[in-house]
Amino acid sequence: MNNLSPGDPINPATLGGGPLRRNVVFLPECESTNDAARALALSGEPEGALVITDFQRAGRGRLGRTWQAPRSSSLLFSILLRPPLEPARAAQAVMAASLGAMEGIRRETGLPARLKWPNDVLIGGKKTGGILCELGMEGPKLAFVIVGVGLNVNFDPRAVDEIPPEATSIRLELGRAQPRSALLRAVLEEIEERYAGILRGESLREEWAAALDTLGKRVRVVLPKGEIAGHAETVDESGALILRLKDGSARTVLAGDVVNATIDHRP
Ligand code: BTN
Repeated sequence: MNNLSPGDPINPATLGGGPLRRNVVFLPECESTNDAARALALSGEPEGALVITDFQRAGRGRLGRTWQAPRSSSLLFSILLRPPLEPARAAQAVMAASLGAMEGIRRETGLPARLKWPNDVLIGGKKTGGILCELGMEGPKLAFVIVGVGLNVNFDPRAVDEIPPEATSIRLELGRAQPRSALLRAVLEEIEERYAGILRGESLREEWAAALDTLGKRVRVVLPKGEIAGHAETVDESGALILRLKDGSARTVLAGDVVNATIDHRP
């Protein structure tokens, strides 16, 4: 079950170079890589800083949840972006990160990774990763975007109480351990390719829509207050999900509002 060098260290020297690997900061442990990247952003660090850690004492997920991963088991990193985008289009950066994570996994492991709206990375329909995106504003302008990526790599999430039982990891799906540095490099290359497209004014909406398992299905979306069911028709440029309700009307659900979105198997 093991093809790794002892401890499978992440070696920043093997990550190659690229615009979002301009300043690679490796922390043996930290509270949260998103917090560390935000501190860099607030101190004036330019775009392309990458904070990687082996262990987070206070890893964060969406909507105030925690993100847990045993030491040296996973990929936990955050990228500081300063995209010249309207705040309403900041979701393009999240699309770049989730598509990059998905494609990096597919390329490096051969596993058929997919995405679940809004921000989950799936393998075989089970969650193996997530993206936490946090914005920094200067008045009405977008000053920075922190894109935090967590991927379950070489551990069994079923053994971690705080992780929902329907989660998986790359090792579980692959049947062997996956060297983390090689996977990280592939994911970063795929994110960089897509981010370059955004900077050229391109949209990732279509590629993202094609990668989302959620679309074309009947889904149940849990919101902070109540829930709605409908047919998941498409997503828009801002990352919102467009649902067709039973009465034929359309409902736009913002990604930031959703607690959970599941395929609805009820008759
Ligand atoms: C989610 O699915 O809820 C998003 C999880 C995001 C976790 C990553 S791990 C690296 C970065 N630092 C954090 O504290 N969170 C993100």
